[in-house]
Amino acid sequence: MATNDLPRAFSGIQPSGEVHLGNYLGALRNWVSTQETADSIYCIVDLHALSVPREPGEIGRNTLSLAADLLAIGIDPEKSTLFVQSNVREHTELAWHLQCVAAFGELRRMTQFKDKSEDQSFISTALFTYPALQAADIVLYDSDIVPVGDDQRQHIEFTRDIVERFNKRFGDTLVVPQHRIPTAGARIRDLQNPEKKMSKSAESPQGVIFLSDTPAQIEKKMKRAVTDNDGEVRFDPENKPGVSNLLTILATCTDADPAVLAEQYTQYGPLKTDTAAALIAVLEPIWERRAQLDDQTTAEILRVGADKARAVAEPVMERVRDAVQLHR
Ligand code: TYM
Repeated sequence: MATNDLPRAFSGIQPSGEVHLGNYLGALRNWVSTQETADSIYCIVDLHALSVPREPGEIGRNTLSLAADLLAIGIDPEKSTLFVQSNVREHTELAWHLQCVAAFGELRRMTQFKDKSEDQSFISTALFTYPALQAADIVLYDSDIVPVGDDQRQHIEFTRDIVERFNKRFGDTLVVPQHRIPTAGARIRDLQNPEKKMSKSAESPQGVIFLSDTPAQIEKKMKRAVTDNDGEVRFDPENKPGVSNLLTILATCTDADPAVLAEQYTQYGPLKTDTAAALIAVLEPIWERRAQLDDQTTAEILRVGADKARAVAEPVMERVRDAVQLHR
């Protein structure tokens, strides 16, 4: 809980590539609305992005551009704290303490680890212990709620488990957080491969809509989106993942119900055209704001954000040190 009696919200995003529609509809637009109801802290998790091999400088360069995207989307530095994970050292210190109460077996069960390590020739230990750093991110700010997409559900449940274990072992020290997963848009699917979630690491960029795409690119990707052969517009994510994905995108962009929307269509073509148009209308003001942001202003916002974040994180870390009682 934040000191002003509002709940504390915390969430993070990796600077590992361009922001895509899944990030936006599943999480980032909820970051923006959460600013109104919670004391919100948002973090660019650059250390997490290092858990797979990167060239020197790659993550640093992506960080500033991602910060500008977040500001353009509507993260307001007057209302919330926006900062970079590696600028607050307590994250890695607390992560160690949480790794010490996390079981190897529970980390091994994480589906994100299984997915990300599949077919990789090099798997870092950081990729394996990644959820403990994520747990540290969250609890370092006494966070009550964590707005995320559905793919983070297991990580937040893991966070709750290890924080409860820490509190049992060392006394009531850390706040046990809850995820905030939206009812619509929590799992946006790849347009070319709707069995899979939309992701930065997709096989083909045609399946992924990036925030930086032009209206023409969005229209083209929507037009080519994979549907199915039965020709019926119905909201049925299980049996009709492609069509249901389009309905979900249209519904989240227009604040409507996907099942109700489905009744207005008899063909896939108009559904695709309307979905592209609705999305472009949502993204237009974001593109306009993005074009006005300069690197210097963005860097200054991150610097101030890191100071604000440190002011919250330091006393929590001190509480953890007191609880663990190492020699001082
Ligand atoms: P990341 O960077 O992969 O994604 C950022 C946010 O976008 C959501 N998301 C999606 N939502 C719906 N449909 C999709 N296809 C889709 N793809 C991504 C994610 O659920 C996420 O909310 N481990 C985290 C980053 C992290 C974090 C944290 C999050 C580190 N520490 C602390 C919350 C709290 C991740 O890799 O997100």
